Amino acid sequence: MSTLLTSTTKRQICRYSASTRGPVNYKSEQPQQRGQRRGVSDYGHFYRNRQLEQYAAKEARRLTLRQLVWFGRSMTEDRLIKSANYVRTELPVRISHRLRDMQALPYVVVTKEGVAKVYELYWSAFEKLRKYPPIETLEDNTAFCVFLREILDEHGPVIPSLSLGLSLSSQYLAPERLDSFMRRMLVSRISRRVLAEHHLALSSAFHGRDHDPDGGDHVGIIYTNLKVKDSIQRCVRYLTEAADQSPEEKNPGKAVLRRHNVVIDGQLDTEFSYIREHLEYIVFELLKNSIRATASHHHGASTSPEVRATIAASKDDVSIRISDQGGGLPNVEMSSDLFSFSHIRNSARLDDSRLGALRNASQSTEGLMATVAEQLRKKRMRRPVPYSGDGQPDLAQRIGADVHAKVGIGLPMSNIYARYFGGSLELMSLDGWGTDVYVRLPKLGTNLEGIEV
Ligand code: COI
Repeated sequence: MSTLLTSTTKRQICRYSASTRGPVNYKSEQPQQRGQRRGVSDYGHFYRNRQLEQYAAKEARRLTLRQLVWFGRSMTEDRLIKSANYVRTELPVRISHRLRDMQALPYVVVTKEGVAKVYELYWSAFEKLRKYPPIETLEDNTAFCVFLREILDEHGPVIPSLSLGLSLSSQYLAPERLDSFMRRMLVSRISRRVLAEHHLALSSAFHGRDHDPDGGDHVGIIYTNLKVKDSIQRCVRYLTEAADQSPEEKNPGKAVLRRHNVVIDGQLDTEFSYIREHLEYIVFELLKNSIRATASHHHGASTSPEVRATIAASKDDVSIRISDQGGGLPNVEMSSDLFSFSHIRNSARLDDSRLGALRNASQSTEGLMATVAEQLRKKRMRRPVPYSGDGQPDLAQRIGADVHAKVGIGLPMSNIYARYFGGSLELMSLDGWGTDVYVRLPKLGTNLEGIEV
């Protein structure tokens, strides 16, 4: 839907990609699009692109989890203002790298519905951030926080939009290129949201507005004694409650979800410093997949086997294994790459129901937000968890969309979250029996954010 791009933006893409992109079209562009590219004659936007070049030439100043905690402890006015200015100057650098990445895509891709929308959002955020004046006082910081919150909310639909856009352009990009582009976009987005949300949480705490309905010691968005067992239990509770809220006809697995048994074993007292929303995103997605698989594999049986979450801790890592007896991956899934966004590696990427669900989520202001879960939240009068790593208001809100449509983002996103601070996620299928997923997260917080420039 090229109409989504402003003519300014079209000219920018044309000029940049005409001069710098390599011979990478997976399927060649239409003659009409090549014509458009050749027809570019307006240099009025040179200045805007030059600004981008200047920012894109800078390297991201990556942080470790430990640095984020260290900086946030014993907060003073001076430190808070430093934090604000770091976020103010760092975000446009990180966005500029991704804008450059998008400009290097074939024109036919960047003008696609979804991708075009994200391109516009990023340009707008880049311009606003780059022009934002230095923060000097606490009042300036309060205004900056309002501004940041607005951008974060505006960017709610980025993931479904990108996912939709890339699925629609899958035929124009080689799978390796599509997946590495998507990975850079997602990792970078996580990183920007971590910086922004951490600063917002530090600012709230500084002004005495810190409140977490579920309790737990935290510095900004990092929980310093995060109890893995509690997080798993919270995810089980969200899943169960969402099933209770969702109408039977929309959620045939509801009954199973509600009575499903998740056993937690292993080193139950394990705790570490981590971003709770990242850990819970992963656990939630894996449990959901396991419960769904078990429900469908044992459909009609009076009982179904439990899903088991085992926690283990070593000197350096925390590991969680989620095991189910859901039959393992069926042939069709085995032969496709579940982590890939390309239809060539994973044909389910072009399913109509998936594209429809992504389109809806992309057009809503909240992204993959859920009616069911929203009701759930209202009913419980629960304040939204202040931070959700993928830009969705909270875990509970995410459930509804997941219950209704399989958009296939959960597993690749979980993988990206696990790797963000140097962890890993691996999936082992015992065909005909069940699946084990192993998640490992580093415990010391000394790895730098895994973003690529
Ligand atoms: C995103 O959510 O995609 C962002 O880039 C948010 C950031 C500008 C605060």
